[in-house]
Amino acid sequence: MKAFIFDLDGVICSTDELHYLAWKALADREGIPFDRVMGNRMRGVSRMACLEIMLEKANHSYTEEEKKEMADFKNSHYVALLDKLTEKDLSEEVRSTLQALRKMGYRIAIGSSSKNTPIILRKLGIYDWFDAVVDGNMITHSKPHPEVFLKAAKLLCLPPEECFVVEDAVAGIDAAKAGGFVSIGISDASRYEKADYKIHTFSDLLNIVK
Ligand code: G6P
Ligand code: MG
Repeated sequence: MKAFIFDLDGVICSTDELHYLAWKALADREGIPFDRVMGNRMRGVSRMACLEIMLEKANHSYTEEEKKEMADFKNSHYVALLDKLTEKDLSEEVRSTLQALRKMGYRIAIGSSSKNTPIILRKLGIYDWFDAVVDGNMITHSKPHPEVFLKAAKLLCLPPEECFVVEDAVAGIDAAKAGGFVSIGISDASRYEKADYKIHTFSDLLNIVK
């Protein structure tokens, strides 16, 4: 194995919680029931696909124009929450584990469906740490399609089977499997039977490669 491709939200940082809060704000505005189970299904999934998950519980249908306004509302709320993000929001555990993997010679990349990836990596002060960053602005299909990880592997000049993919999303593990990567599930995805490895905390990655 030569590289790690990391999902961002819920793996490198806790921005998964900010996505949840922003969708909750929209659901409350619209009077649509929304809970953690729905929030977990939104992990790894594009903004518009998340909206469709939320609208499963709506009691009337929405026009395309209304849907666009709702997605924009959620994103504005989310970006406002991101404003408070600083380098302190990168945990010491993630920081030291990434550094240790790099020191061991592993190449590292980001593969995220989020269009806000560059803002987050810059706010955390780690944009330059990665050999490749592929995000929601660069793909046509979001997870569970493997496109985001295949693009990252291509930028690393490595075949998928030489790359680990680290994911908190069931859709992300499915994407990794579909692309021929070795998958590692953390958080919500650590309970997913299809993950090749399941870890409880980020630094457990070091146990996999030792
Ligand atoms: C990540 C998150 C998803 C989010 C998606 C798009 O994959 O896990 O919950 O919907 O990115 O994020 P964006 O910031 O572009 O709306
Ligand atoms: Mg995630």
